[in-house]
Amino acid sequence: MKQNGAIGIFDSGVGGTSIWKEIHGLLPFEDTIYLADSKYAPYGNRSKEEITALSIKNTEFLIAQGCKIIVVACNTATTNAIKVLRANYNIPIIGIEPAIKPAALHSKTKSIGILATKGTLSSELFHKTSEAFTNGIQLTEVVGEGLVSLIEKGALDSLEMMELLEKHIRPMIEANIDYLVLGCSHYPYIIPQLQKILPKHITIIDSGEAVAKQTKAILAENDLLRNEERMPTLRFYTNSEVDTLQFLLKEFAVKISIEKKGF
Ligand code: SIN
Repeated sequence: MKQNGAIGIFDSGVGGTSIWKEIHGLLPFEDTIYLADSKYAPYGNRSKEEITALSIKNTEFLIAQGCKIIVVACNTATTNAIKVLRANYNIPIIGIEPAIKPAALHSKTKSIGILATKGTLSSELFHKTSEAFTNGIQLTEVVGEGLVSLIEKGALDSLEMMELLEKHIRPMIEANIDYLVLGCSHYPYIIPQLQKILPKHITIIDSGEAVAKQTKAILAENDLLRNEERMPTLRFYTNSEVDTLQFLLKEFAVKISIEKKGF
């Protein structure tokens, strides 16, 4: 039965597990297969062609495992490759886009900031979305240079992380933003560090919950939801070391499996 397939999720590395947590929270009886392409992380400074080729490789791996839907839990892969993936594969493909719209709608200072990779900020899809929703809003775009590599290493609380964040956030504070949009699925893991340096009136938003709701809605629309209550199989594959995945997913340790694999 097609409903029995797993939800396939991929990211350039460990960051998309922030999206996996939302999806598993909303759909606790669904099997999931998560692919961390950490060997090739970060995607953010790669060309569109490279990002597309890596996204195709990841999608084919997940389809070969019988996945019924693919969630691209990586902003850089979504903005650069989702069009090609949707044109080439005949299963639903969900992407993740920065939450520019709600930030712009709720901003009182009419100034919002976005922290994302170079690959996301320079993409056509990002430009289209931001232009559509930021009429009359000042948008301060900052490339989170160096952040993904530190998160991949699990160096969340390092001095280097705090110094980089101070540098990246300064222009946003100077622009009087009241919303900070996280445009990379790795960044929810550094919300505590961001909160240490951001003034209290700045709200941080990410897209994890919206992606999980969209995944559920698309599964329902395609009659792909599992209806019975059961213990799901939750598999994580990485083509690098397992340590950071183990650290970020420690509260799920008893119910998940994490394996190093070549892909
Ligand atoms: C990266 O690999 O550079 C970041 C992934 C993302 O944009 O979510």
